[in-house]
Amino acid sequence: MVKGSDMELDVNGIRRDFPILGTVQDGKPLVYLDSAATSQKPKKVIAAISRYYRKYNANIHRGVYKISIEASEAYEKSKTKVAKFINAGSMEEIIYTRNATESINLVALSWAEQNIRSGDHILLSELEHHSNIVPWQILAKRKGAVIDYIRLDSDMAELDAASVDRELKKNPKIVAITQASNVLGTIVDVKSIAKEAHARGAAVLVDAAQSVPHMPVDVRDIDCDFMAFSGHKMLGPTGIGVLYAKKRILEETSPALGGGDMIKTVGFETFVSNDLPWKFEAGTPNIEGGIALGVAVDYLKRIGMQNIRDHEKRLTKYALGQLAKQSGVSVFGPDADDIDHRCGVISFEIDGVHPHDVASIFDQEGIAIRAGHHCAMPLVVNVLKRPALSRMSFYLYNKQSDVDAAISAIGQVKRIFKIKEAAQAKV
Ligand code: ALA
Repeated sequence: MVKGSDMELDVNGIRRDFPILGTVQDGKPLVYLDSAATSQKPKKVIAAISRYYRKYNANIHRGVYKISIEASEAYEKSKTKVAKFINAGSMEEIIYTRNATESINLVALSWAEQNIRSGDHILLSELEHHSNIVPWQILAKRKGAVIDYIRLDSDMAELDAASVDRELKKNPKIVAITQASNVLGTIVDVKSIAKEAHARGAAVLVDAAQSVPHMPVDVRDIDCDFMAFSGHKMLGPTGIGVLYAKKRILEETSPALGGGDMIKTVGFETFVSNDLPWKFEAGTPNIEGGIALGVAVDYLKRIGMQNIRDHEKRLTKYALGQLAKQSGVSVFGPDADDIDHRCGVISFEIDGVHPHDVASIFDQEGIAIRAGHHCAMPLVVNVLKRPALSRMSFYLYNKQSDVDAAISAIGQVKRIFKIKEAAQAKV
């Protein structure tokens, strides 16, 4: 998969593994630039789901027969793969959820429910996705806790270091922060924030939905207490997500969801929780999703996370350079010369054109981008003061010609809107 000594990705080879990338719509090949919303899936992941249903569909942890044992082993093996992928201590620290959102909610409903009291502070940042805001708002309301936000710097690109210091002095109980912004592409130095937060006695949760799929991530190096991410953004299926948490914390925390699988024994009065990680997984899980996520992890590891990061850096830098040449186009987030602090997400706007119109014209050209508030209304609406933004986002299967197609679609948007303006002027 890796071509030559310059470690460039064999993108054409990778693309052949993704059936959807061969799609042609109205004579135009699909250009997929919305991987921050969800990634495409390689054949091996699709085949793993199909194989489970065709060959060994059975419930796990219950059967003593062969296909149930096979399903249980495949499901558990995938957790070991995920644990190694993020350098967790063991699969006991890997809880499967539906997605990153549910992982954060699970922390709010269990650890935070048991540890946060009236008047305690919860520290978030202005970069956060709704998934890392709303669960805390619900908890804060229930508990009478206070939510504070680390501000952006004056360039509206990175977190303001003075604001980090100021807010940490309030001694929050938890700091819940993104590692990579889904709007600005900003990569946050979560390791240094975790160090400062721990020095003040705070727990640290990292929202890694946009980082784990795109760069090497090491939970022990970051030293976070919790990490949340989604399978569907890292070549896996929808409906499977991961909550990593330190074993000690999981041992000390009571489960929030009760039912099957999370118990050892149940009596009419009480129950005894199961061992980790099953203690936090109630009911029949997404078996095929877990198995297929393990296959997605195998795929990413074979390509190499540093190679993927380097590829996305090159593409992002190229795209930022091309966008800078466009008149009437504004780009948000860190500059091209700050590429080490930027992931492959570029939000932009074209003067005088609503982002939904931009996305519709891109769609006519066969190019999929996202437009809207990107599930980060406080950032987009309150901080950036925009009703919406257009966004392109890259992954390992994107190539330079995808960026060229996007730049040419921007030209098309400008042409259409100039024509409209001229027509309106005549009326
Ligand atoms: N949170 C995902 C995005 O940024 C859905 O598009």
